[in-house]
Amino acid sequence: MSAPDFSVSGQHVLISGGAGGIGTALAKAFRGAGANVTLCDVKPPTVDEGFDFEYLDVRDTAAVEALAAKVKKLDVLIHCAGKLVRHEEHKPDVFMDIVNIHLGGNLRLATAFRPQLAATRGCLINIGSMYSYFGASRIPAYASAKTAIIGLTRSLAVAYAEDGIRVNAIAPGWIRTEISRGGREDSVFNDAVMQRLPTKRWSEPEELAGTAVFLASPAAKLINGVTIPVDGGYVAS
Ligand SMILES: NC(=O)c1ccc[n+]([C@@H]2O[C@H](COP(=O)([O-])OP(=O)(O)OC[C@H]3O[C@@H](n4cnc5c(N)ncnc54)[C@H](O)[C@@H]3O)[C@@H](O)[C@H]2O)c1
Repeated sequence: MSAPDFSVSGQHVLISGGAGGIGTALAKAFRGAGANVTLCDVKPPTVDEGFDFEYLDVRDTAAVEALAAKVKKLDVLIHCAGKLVRHEEHKPDVFMDIVNIHLGGNLRLATAFRPQLAATRGCLINIGSMYSYFGASRIPAYASAKTAIIGLTRSLAVAYAEDGIRVNAIAPGWIRTEISRGGREDSVFNDAVMQRLPTKRWSEPEELAGTAVFLASPAAKLINGVTIPVDGGYVAS
């Protein structure tokens, strides 16, 4: 048997929330593996790493459709845009806004870019969370949306199979980025996480990159509709 093909060289990759910690790390990994990467976000990258950048608010359907009209070729779409608001998400307006970013944004991007992904028989990579698996008293919208990402991933995988598009998700563990800063700085919360976490440390965004590149590669052609925890064993413990 010949060696499995992990190559993503020459693929075109679009990452929403691409100016964030995980989006940037994935962008660097795909570029390092020979792919062409475009980032989109509501804010430009803090450090200019030379990626193409498009302003995009994933809550704006018209803007998502306008971007899709500009992108001619796409092999990989990664929905990395995300936000949480501790202690505020029991308010209905805040709840709906957070769900809109994570879940509505995912559906919006998937729908708009389906034709390009169908043309390349490409793939969609969604981003779940440890909160895909359990509740969060202070961020119920975030946890609800992340739980629903598992269902949306399965549903789109089934729906898009006829186009040869695969849809999977990564559920990151505890990653050192801006969105998790509040949790890291809350010593009671931080201690509880570290006690359960087998690796006993916050992880770096780069540690997710291998799984994302693998999911986009020919070696993963039979993987569809799954959410993979990349969490140092947190869900298992
Ligand atoms: N850091 C972690 O521990 C962790 C764990 C599990 C899941 N995640 C998820 O990973 C993804 C990336 O988060 P991160 O850790 O890189 O955090 P981050 O805060 O560094 O990045 C999130 C990015 O999303 C962008 N964004 C927010 N609202 C947007 C909108 N309406 N339209 C477009 N972009 C928008 C932000 O500007 C930011 O650049 C998110 O979905 C997050 O929920 C993170």
